Amino acid sequence: MSEKRTYVVLLGVPGAGKGTQAKLLEQSTGLPQISTGDIFRYNLKNQTELGKLAKSYMDRGDLVPDDVTIRMVEDRLQQPDCSCGAIMDGFPRNLIQAAAFDQMTAPYGGVHVTPLIQVDDDETIRRITGRRSCRTCGAVYHVLYNPPKVEGVCDVDGGELYQRDDDKEDTVRNRLFVYYKQTSPLIGYYFAKGLLREIDGAQSIEDVHSALMAVVTS
Ligand code: AP5
Repeated sequence: MSEKRTYVVLLGVPGAGKGTQAKLLEQSTGLPQISTGDIFRYNLKNQTELGKLAKSYMDRGDLVPDDVTIRMVEDRLQQPDCSCGAIMDGFPRNLIQAAAFDQMTAPYGGVHVTPLIQVDDDETIRRITGRRSCRTCGAVYHVLYNPPKVEGVCDVDGGELYQRDDDKEDTVRNRLFVYYKQTSPLIGYYFAKGLLREIDGAQSIEDVHSALMAVVTS
C-alpha cells in the first residue's frame, strides 16, 4: 500500500452546509475541498465542453453522468495539493460513484470518515433560497444566517454575489428528490463500513465546524 491519505466524505441534503463546512475544514486541516458542483460551475462559466455537457443536468437538478464525473474526480485527485487527501463535497453521490471512489482511494487506506450533516427539509429550503455565492471565489453566504459585511459583495475577494440558477424552487425540489433516491443509500453504505458519523447541522456554522473537527481528527 502507498502512504496513508485522509479522505473525508461530507454527506447531507442540498443546502445542509457541506460547502460551507468543507471550506472551513480546508482552512483547519490543510486538506483541499473538492466540490464537484463548484468544478461543474467553473466549467459552465468558462463554457468548456464539460460545462456545456453538465448544464442541462444541473439546470434540471439531475446528476451529471457517472463516467464524466468519476473521470473528473480522478483527474482532480492527481493534483499535487491532494497528496495528503481531500475533503469531498458532493462526491460520491450514488453507489456507483462510491464504489469508484473506494477503488481510487484503496491504495491510500480508503475513506477515513463520512460525516452526515443532518438538517430537516424546511430548513434546507430556507438555506437554499437565502444562499448567495461569490462569482469569482465561490465563497458561500446567506442573506440572514451568514450575510457578507457589504450587501452583494464578497468579504474574501470583493467579487459579486449571485443566486445560483439551480436554486429556483422547482429545481430545488428535484435536487431533494434526486438526493433521497440516489444519494441517501450512501448512508447505509458507509454505516455498514463503520465510517458514518451523524452531525447536528441545525447548530451554528461554528458549532457544526467544531463537531466536524472532532470526528475528522479522531
Ligand atoms: P452541488 O453544488 O454539490 O449542490 P448540492 O449538493 O445540492 O449542495 P449545495 O451546494 O446546494 O448545498 P451545501 O450542502 O453545500 O450547502 P451550503 O454550504 O452552500 O451540486 C449541484 C449540481 O451539480 C447537482 O445538482 C448536479 O447536477 C451536479 N453535481 C455535483 N456533484 C455531482 C456528482 N458527484 N455527480 C453528478 N452530478 C453532480 O449552505 C447552504 C446555505 O445555508 C448557505 O447560504 C449557507 O450560508 C447557509 N448555512 C450553511 N450552514 C449553516 C448553518 N449551520 N446555519 C445557518 N445557515 C447555514
